[in-house]
Amino acid sequence: MNFKEKIVLITGTSSGIGHASAIQFAKKGASIILVARRKKKLEEVVEDLKKFNVSTLVCECDVSNKSQVQKMSEIVLEKYDSIDVLVNNAGFAIYGSVSNLTTEEIESQMATNYFGMVYCIKNFLPSMIKKKSGHIVNVASVAASFGLPGIAPYCASKFAMLGFSEGLKHELKETGVGITVVSPIRVRTNFFDHPSFENMPKYSPTSLSAETVAKAILKAANSPRLEIIVPAVVRGAVWMKNTFPYLINPILGSTFNKQLNNKKQD
Ligand SMILES: NC(=O)c1ccc[n+]([C@@H]2O[C@H](COP(=O)([O-])OP(=O)(O)OC[C@H]3O[C@@H](n4cnc5c(N)ncnc54)[C@H](OP(=O)(O)O)[C@@H]3O)[C@@H](O)[C@H]2O)c1
Repeated sequence: MNFKEKIVLITGTSSGIGHASAIQFAKKGASIILVARRKKKLEEVVEDLKKFNVSTLVCECDVSNKSQVQKMSEIVLEKYDSIDVLVNNAGFAIYGSVSNLTTEEIESQMATNYFGMVYCIKNFLPSMIKKKSGHIVNVASVAASFGLPGIAPYCASKFAMLGFSEGLKHELKETGVGITVVSPIRVRTNFFDHPSFENMPKYSPTSLSAETVAKAILKAANSPRLEIIVPAVVRGAVWMKNTFPYLINPILGSTFNKQLNNKKQD
């Protein structure tokens, strides 16, 4: 897909990967629909996009709220009829053991990371199918392949996103609409500003820039693949874990449990 004059909707555009993706798509001449809860932040991103001379639409919307997503989609579809690319990127994590997290904290991660994606797809897919074109890009994580202590509910939401995307990809065969999941390792964004991550190491030398992930999202929007892991070399680690779980899982479990136990002692 050539992105010039294409309509791209990105959730979670007010920060990090979403903001960086808006810049990358705008550089290619796409019109950008910016979706998130913080309108002021979205308007700051629009200022950044002005130099690319592309059309923009700001939509204040909590993607975990079904009726807000429906209202947002009505506004978007009234203006554009259909969109060409839907990037489901809005997401967050709350760090903590399942014993210590409240049920509401667990539910809230599923509500945004998984159901937010479902609501957006339910509202925009019919017009894409009607037009027989378009691509959905779901931003998951390597946490879609590894269940880790301390972020079990977050992993569950990303496993769910990957499973949903795999099933939907089969259903979309021959419709002209594609779907690809982008699964990055740790990225330098505001993601770890959530108070539950306080006093924890936020980034490592291998952490990615939001721009690197944004470029993978553009690639995904033109890809026939189900999942693009960023960086590609991590696909080897996923293969190792799936092939030799009895070797890999104990190593991962004890490494991440150490971090969780240190956090409990804070
Ligand atoms: N950073 C990482 O290490 C990393 C690694 C792998 C995958 N990811 C995934 O990448 C995606 C983007 O995260 P990021 O790293 O760019 O983090 P970020 O800088 O914290 O950005 C998160 C974005 O999601 C939006 N958002 C959160 N809840 C929302 C809701 N209920 N409704 C609408 N928008 C909502 C936020 O906007 P508002 O607060 O304005 O609503 C913000 O724009 C997430 O899905 C995350 O799981 C991140």
